[in-house]
Amino acid sequence: MNIGKMIANKRKELGFTQQALAEKLNVSFQAVSKWENGTSYPDVTLLPSLAAVLNVSIDSLLGYPSQSITDYDKRYKSEGYYWGLAPNHLCYEMMRLKPPTRPYKVLDIGCGEGKDAVFLARNGYHVTAFDISEQGLCKARELSDRCGVEIHFFKADVRDFRIETDYDIIFSSGVFHYIPAELRWRVIENLKTHTTINGIHVINVFVRKPFIPLPPDIEESEISAGDWRSGELFTYYHDWLFRKNEERIFDCNSGGIPHKHCMDVLIAEKI
Ligand SMILES: C[S@@+](CC[C@H](N)C(=O)[O-])C[C@H]1O[C@@H](n2cnc3c(N)ncnc32)[C@H](O)[C@@H]1O
Repeated sequence: MNIGKMIANKRKELGFTQQALAEKLNVSFQAVSKWENGTSYPDVTLLPSLAAVLNVSIDSLLGYPSQSITDYDKRYKSEGYYWGLAPNHLCYEMMRLKPPTRPYKVLDIGCGEGKDAVFLARNGYHVTAFDISEQGLCKARELSDRCGVEIHFFKADVRDFRIETDYDIIFSSGVFHYIPAELRWRVIENLKTHTTINGIHVINVFVRKPFIPLPPDIEESEISAGDWRSGELFTYYHDWLFRKNEERIFDCNSGGIPHKHCMDVLIAEKI
């Protein structure tokens, strides 16, 4: 899709007129009209604000497939399960808070090879899950077939994905650091809006501490997304009830070089 069509589609999705979009960007409506009919292109200096106003990443605005940003497809091509099959301990914490007394609707964002999604589905949750990596999704589907559970898996990019139906539980482990600073508020606001009352979000994110050096195997996409400030995750949920908010520093040996990470963990309930 070309950039003009992308601008027109996103603008209409958001219900903006050309004039309204032009005002937000401080350009004339004729300029917007020209972009949309392909007779000119927006200036590169406008791209960050254009992407932010239209709720998309610059990559997708320019028509680049987002998966080019991570090397997870490569990692997930290896034999076996890159992250193992043991569910994240947050799944158990989530289950303690919301035991599957009814088929709660769960959305797993950045499900990778599906270990947590499958674990939750086996325990009676109604799970939907997405990831940007086709290879990860392929393994996730195999795993769910093998375990005899039905999960709706699909490919999407958390940076421009917008949910339209409500979920009881939104779960995401090790993914939010891919969301660039300028999109975080919008992405999270959309997830919060589409969460049922008393629903919960279970999220962890890597954060930067000035006294911890950057990990040796940090990806370009993580750097370009920008650091998450320590405590930043909690601020997006100031109006929800915190069931758990924790910051922990832990050792890691990925890439064969010992180093440390700092992670903020939040379980918050919509009241
Ligand atoms: C550290 S892994 C975590 C996988 C899984 N949540 C787990 O804990 O096993 C990060 C995952 O985020 C996915 N990812 C990276 N960028 C993404 C994006 N923009 N949208 C959706 N998923 C993304 C990667 O493909 C990868 O599967």
